Amino acid sequence: MSSTTEGARATHATLTIPGSNKTAELPLLNGTLGPQVADIRKLQAQTGIFTFDPGYGETASCESKITYIDGDEGVLLYRGYPIDQLAEKSTFLEVAHLLLYGELPTAAEFESFNRGVTMHTMLHEQVRRFFDGFRRDAHPMAVLCGVVGALSAFYPESVNVNDAREREISAFRLIAKIPTITAWAHKYSTGQPFMYPRNDLSYAENFLYMINAVPPEPYRKNPILERAMDRILILHADHEQNASTSTVRLAGSTGANPFACIAAGIAALWGPAHGGANEAVLKMLGEIGHKDNIPAFIAEVKDKNSHTKLMGFGHRVYKNFDPRAKIMQQTCHEVLGELGIKHEPLLELAMELEKIALDDDYFVSRKLYPNVDFYSGIILKAMGFPTTMFTPLFALARTTGWISQWMEMIADPSQRIGRPRQLYTGAPRRDYVSIDQRG
Ligand code: CMC
Repeated sequence: MSSTTEGARATHATLTIPGSNKTAELPLLNGTLGPQVADIRKLQAQTGIFTFDPGYGETASCESKITYIDGDEGVLLYRGYPIDQLAEKSTFLEVAHLLLYGELPTAAEFESFNRGVTMHTMLHEQVRRFFDGFRRDAHPMAVLCGVVGALSAFYPESVNVNDAREREISAFRLIAKIPTITAWAHKYSTGQPFMYPRNDLSYAENFLYMINAVPPEPYRKNPILERAMDRILILHADHEQNASTSTVRLAGSTGANPFACIAAGIAALWGPAHGGANEAVLKMLGEIGHKDNIPAFIAEVKDKNSHTKLMGFGHRVYKNFDPRAKIMQQTCHEVLGELGIKHEPLLELAMELEKIALDDDYFVSRKLYPNVDFYSGIILKAMGFPTTMFTPLFALARTTGWISQWMEMIADPSQRIGRPRQLYTGAPRRDYVSIDQRG
């Protein structure tokens, strides 16, 4: 493969297939940030071949203006703003506006956006009855998948994905209703009454209220925990073309309605390699149990035959500290301090594990660092969430990112149905043999 340059950057790469006279001119595309991208859209037409990239690690599946990650430097930007600045200075709904529309809102824009979203926090009473169909011990991710998908039956107008205003209302509905659905999934498992949303509270506080309040007791706000929850939501709001976001885009590329697409994203998030990792981290820490057991655990992780992973470590894109993990660690200390927890064995175990892993050549050589999930479970546990609620909380936050990505995709004129190809390694063509002649 050779390239043509113009100024400092190459403009085209040329791919020649040896032994044939076929050549492809691949334009090199420039983003605002990040490496150049070879445009292979005409590769098959020009050469008859296509590319093989299981896991899509080398493939840009779309053009996007929403989130940028520099995995080597440990940088995460939402619409250009560094995640640490947003986590420190912004609020979740402000970030939601940023992700959806591309800009931080003015005061007037924020007031209108806040009103537009919060007026949709209630669920239809028929949706409330859906919960009764689940077993009390159902995993809340199963409830989320089912109830979010079912919303499409309540808003038939959302099927018209070509109407920009309908799309916006669907986005508002999803962002507003997902805290209610998530909190009710929790209440259902505990047997406590569902608490209806309160629009006088902030997004994060309303969620904590629906989770923690009970009708006979006055509800006491806690600004530190509200802030911590808001920050957790900001940190999880979007993360470029990860597995669940790509699932939302792939489902959306068929023209499916937004509620169905977000339900597909929730399903993809559930796995332990993705959003299920926060739950898996606590399970792992519980199984390790004591600092003395760390060396044996690390040895097991390094043993290729064990299939044991150090959960909360490693990332497809970050080959450095996940910037979200640093903020999570700091938030973890703040929350434990506020709750008066001076000694949290799981946190001490996690910090010791991190120290040992960051010093071990296995992890260093593979550039495996703590990711966002390494500390989030400890915070959520301290805030009183059961482990099964960790991934639903991730889904709650990510709904805003998913719907922003879905909106961007639908409005993109180059968008077409997602349809990857394959390298077929099955049987070549053969003829049917009747059952009495098979041996
Ligand atoms: N523990 C031990 N070894 C690991 C780990 C880990 N957590 N992660 C990667 N490796 C090894 C892997 O075995 C491979 O080794 P080798 O080169 O000897 O075969 C090497 O590191 C490269 O890993 P990979 O599997 O090619 O990396 P990937 O990009 O396919 O996987 C990952 C990324 C996140 C799925 C993986 O690192 C992992 O399973 N981590 C644990 C689960 C986790 O914490 N997930 C949350 C990710 S952040 C939140 C989110 O985005 O959902």
